[in-house]
Amino acid sequence: HAATAAKGKSLGFTSVPVSSADALVVPPEYEAQVLYRWGDATGVAGAAAPTFAGDASNSVQEQLLQAGMHHDGMEYFPLDKNPRHGLLAINHEYTDDGLLHSDGMKTWTAEKVRKSQAAHGVSIIEVVERGGVWRVMPNSRYARRITATTPMAFSGPAAGHALLKTAADPEGARPLGTLNNCAAGQTPWGTFLTCEENWNGYFSAQDKPTPDELRYGLRSKGFGYRWHEFDERFDAVKTPNEQNRFGWVVEIDPQDPTQTPIKRTALGRIKHEGATTTLSRDGRAVVYMGDDERFEYVYKFVSRDKVKPGGYRANRELLDHGTLYVARFDAQGYGRWLPLVHGEDGLTAVAGFPSQAEVVIKCRQAADAVGATKMDRPEWVAVHPNTGEVFLTLTNNSARGQGGRMADASNPRNDNIMGHIIRWREGKGQGGSGAFDGDASATEFRWMHFALAGDPNADKAEYRGTIKGDMYGSPDGLQFDAGGLLWIQTDVSTSAMHKGAYAGMGNNMMLCADPATGETKRFLTGPAGCEITGVTFTPDRRAVFINIQHPGETASERGDPAQPKAVSHWPDGPTGGRPRSATVVIRRKDGGTVGT
Ligand code: FEO
Ligand code: CA
Ligand code: CA
Ligand code: CA
Repeated sequence: HAATAAKGKSLGFTSVPVSSADALVVPPEYEAQVLYRWGDATGVAGAAAPTFAGDASNSVQEQLLQAGMHHDGMEYFPLDKNPRHGLLAINHEYTDDGLLHSDGMKTWTAEKVRKSQAAHGVSIIEVVERGGVWRVMPNSRYARRITATTPMAFSGPAAGHALLKTAADPEGARPLGTLNNCAAGQTPWGTFLTCEENWNGYFSAQDKPTPDELRYGLRSKGFGYRWHEFDERFDAVKTPNEQNRFGWVVEIDPQDPTQTPIKRTALGRIKHEGATTTLSRDGRAVVYMGDDERFEYVYKFVSRDKVKPGGYRANRELLDHGTLYVARFDAQGYGRWLPLVHGEDGLTAVAGFPSQAEVVIKCRQAADAVGATKMDRPEWVAVHPNTGEVFLTLTNNSARGQGGRMADASNPRNDNIMGHIIRWREGKGQGGSGAFDGDASATEFRWMHFALAGDPNADKAEYRGTIKGDMYGSPDGLQFDAGGLLWIQTDVSTSAMHKGAYAGMGNNMMLCADPATGETKRFLTGPAGCEITGVTFTPDRRAVFINIQHPGETASERGDPAQPKAVSHWPDGPTGGRPRSATVVIRRKDGGTVGT
């Protein structure tokens, strides 16, 4: 691999400068097309195709047939031999209820809770390109919305466990809905994995939460979504086990709109950022997952069985049997995957883990017990298509260095507001027996940093970056294209943007890097107040889809109608009403391969 690795790829586009403009900017030889905005019709066959009302007066029933809010992780699934006809599965992470309702949260009603729940979840839409123009297909037999109330099922070791039982579901088998769907993944058998991230924020806990509730950040009144006021499911005092029914990876078959989405408990209950799937040397599925919070862990699941040909039908139970691991990053660039298996390594009944069900439900506590490495907010994982090398974004951690939790080898900077990207190669090389050959099922790895983010000339040493090329901070989205170019998306928070060490770094952006040389070029910059997230390609790499999330977000956005949302008029312009999250498709004007 050494010869190919050293060669490098060329990044054949004109890099764009940093920008504070309220505009999406792509290289001059590219064009961007807004494809699917919050409120656009999903195209469900035989149903109405409601038009977006600029004053946010669409009803719950209309919202159920329209794009949800705050698009995030996304995957493209080609449908037939035409690489430019396929399905997009798109996460709608959360709602800004100040924008979602005509008068924001000035009043609060059961109807508003239902609309907020309807604007969460996932869209499956059918898309096609003709003559360089992409469109969402109306009357699609695949199109579907999945929301915070869609009937789902549990599978794996925790299904049916007492901690998942509620009065409404005494079997602990039939949860309702998914929420805070952040990043995602695509399996080799063609399904979409959507990940439940900051689910704790939807629950109102008692004033003094239990230790298990505290470990996952539950608190009185949650993050202010106010669902619990009209839906007792989200009142953790009245329905204490409902919280255990979130925090999972959910498998969806985009080809079958009648499929019941399945919460795969074998993959653990954390604040799931993403679920990046690859194959081991012997053909088993390996799923990499970050738990996005300061001082949390990186996980992987290795299936017991091999992936079989025959799509979802042949692999329905693949993610129910296998081993869940959590990562320990040691000094000198070595690391180890620690199994989270009931009965092993202190995960016993005495320690609070009487079964594998409780290991996966209390996954964070189990990872604490085995001594995993606390990371600086593990977000997306990307696996190199040829070498199997794994890359992970650690978006930032301003609390590193406080309370005795100091910088370490893998998280090397205190006050890490810029974040970094780490890379590793799996194998069994420690002790000299073999090589780190990139077999994803291995239990050891060799790691190094790909880049420390930030301006290389920053005054403060902690903020100085090692990027070769265009600078960025707070890396979050991360994806390889099939040619081995690494795409990096940023999520600088609205409160940090344009000030302090982020002064002069502009709006959030997407960059492209050559993993062999480290060369990095800025590919696009987003409109004001947005995050750039979600990145997926057509198989011919002639188009890349990305999401613009929360354009116009203000630092105190949620539910405050007094806060004007006029920072951004994207994408509809000054007369278009509210800013809208949207899926954008980008292609080269000459129709060539994106990025090269
Ligand atoms: Fe939803 Fe960790 O970003
Ligand atoms: Ca993210
Ligand atoms: Ca983020
Ligand atoms: Ca976000």
